[in-house]
Amino acid sequence: MGSREARAGSLDAPGRWGDTEVVEMNETGIHHDAEALEPFLGRWRGRGRGKYPTITPFEYEEECEYRPFRKPFVIYSQKTWDPRTGEPLHQEVGYLRPKPGGLVEIVIAHPTGIAEILEGSIRNGEIDAESTHVGLTSTAKDVRRLRRQISVEGDSMHYTLLMAAVGLPMQEHLTCSLTRVPE
Ligand code: HEM
Repeated sequence: MGSREARAGSLDAPGRWGDTEVVEMNETGIHHDAEALEPFLGRWRGRGRGKYPTITPFEYEEECEYRPFRKPFVIYSQKTWDPRTGEPLHQEVGYLRPKPGGLVEIVIAHPTGIAEILEGSIRNGEIDAESTHVGLTSTAKDVRRLRRQISVEGDSMHYTLLMAAVGLPMQEHLTCSLTRVPE
């Protein structure tokens, strides 16, 4: 795999991350220490299903992005909408940070007053992470625990999200299959 160097500060946030730092990246633009996330990079689009014992099952369309950065993490963003009406549903943004030994740390913020911190494994394009902390604003829904399983094979991504919420034990809320959008 080829290698290139970039002067931090010469890219999208000049000066902010230290102008003299030299960052090691491969040709996808991902930092060497974040290479375990390389299969996830890009824009993805697909359709998912949601359920929980307290709600009516629903379908949704999703677009999400995993973007490299010159620091050892990947920037994640997601938006969803109702396939019938086009009305926006859930959105979320966050960061993924691989660590030595096949570990991954994830932080995700939700506009619904929820902040997730997850830790887990990343191996061969598969992430399995569970929440170590869930932060809630005073009016957020009562979400206690989360588990995210995300796998990528070539141009196909699949994920499930399990949650323990509103007094119920850990169980599936979302499952979704996405395809990489050519860029
Ligand atoms: C693809 C992303 C998601 C979509 C499309 C989605 C959609 C929905 C919909 C349509 C409902 C039922 C109506 C409502 O209460 O608004 C719902 C309920 C809920 N969702 Fe999600 N959701 C998503 C992700 C999440 C995530 C990441 C969490 C937790 C961090 C979450 C937690 C909840 C909770 C706690 C409820 C309410 C259950 C209840 O009040 O009984 N959702 N979701």
